[in-house]
Amino acid sequence: MDVIILGIESSCDDTSAAVVRNTLMLSNVIAGQKVHEAYGGVVPELASRAHQQNIIPVVHEALKRAGISKKDLSAVAFTRGPGLLGSLLVGTSFAKGLAIALQIPLIEVNHLQAHVLAHFIRVNESDTGQPQFPFLCLLVSGGNSQIILVRQWNEMEVIGQTIDDAAGEAFDKCAKVMGLPYPGGPIVDRLAKEGNLAAFRLSKPNIPDYNYSFSGLKTSFLYLLRDELKKDSNFVENNRTDLCASLQAAIIDILMQKLRKASDDLNIKEIAVAGGVSANSALRRAFEEHAVTYGWKIHIPSFAFTTDNAAMVAVCGYFKYLAKDFASPDCVPFSRTTI
Ligand code: KG4
Repeated sequence: MDVIILGIESSCDDTSAAVVRNTLMLSNVIAGQKVHEAYGGVVPELASRAHQQNIIPVVHEALKRAGISKKDLSAVAFTRGPGLLGSLLVGTSFAKGLAIALQIPLIEVNHLQAHVLAHFIRVNESDTGQPQFPFLCLLVSGGNSQIILVRQWNEMEVIGQTIDDAAGEAFDKCAKVMGLPYPGGPIVDRLAKEGNLAAFRLSKPNIPDYNYSFSGLKTSFLYLLRDELKKDSNFVENNRTDLCASLQAAIIDILMQKLRKASDDLNIKEIAVAGGVSANSALRRAFEEHAVTYGWKIHIPSFAFTTDNAAMVAVCGYFKYLAKDFASPDCVPFSRTTI
């Protein structure tokens, strides 16, 4: 029998609702929040309020686009965490209320696990490119940089992670010192296309295992700007594209080096990437090059699934539904955790 799941995502500044039939996506509606643009980052209080405004119309639209009525739903899945607590409370409370009213199961979803399982969303019936277990997933976002060994949909092990900043933070913080608006990652990506990636040498970390560190790179970028600005006050303006290209190349080099090591050591060539930074064009290119050079079978998400979306929550909910892994109505959101 078909399983129809409504997924709800409200962990940060996107209110999203999606409907899946088994793993087939029927709709995925996302309402972004422009209110944060003026502040150079997400303001938690404003995010919660915007979720309150958006959640009902977004869910309504997701059901409408899917051609599904509320009574057809098998369960409601929602992001329990990690994320901003006030934002999570909106989605959690809404999901609880709806599941109780419809007398259907409630399913809690870990946001990070959902990013990994986004690779199992099928956008049409002939979409069959899903990863085979076990695979490695590089999860790179504004808050995380992890290498995850995925043995099964519910058996994930973080084998490496950042000991300080996340890759997205490195993009955003370095962009900020160049005077670029938040989030800087996509702008660095765009400007880097015009620049010379060998123009500036930046420091690379030397830390053990599969862990990452980006604070040294950030500091070396900061010092480069400080020293060069003493000689030329227009240094950033005159070198912006080269700075972006060099920074981006260094971040990707760091990410790929540890991923290669994990792939070699564990002899796993099925490799996926997920999270906001997986939208980066040079990172996607690096994956394609590694597929050719190292025989990797790569899984790169479509752009719609790199950012926060409820389709990944709904698909995760589908797997949990099959396992009868339901949440209790007294479960509360959590702001921090890993997989
Ligand atoms: O997963 P995500 O949407 O949410 C958070 O974890 O907050 O990731 C957002 C991060 C930001 O740091 C943003 O700058 C980065 O993803 N990002 C990019 C690109 N698109 C988004 N970084 C580099 N290149 C991109 N094209």
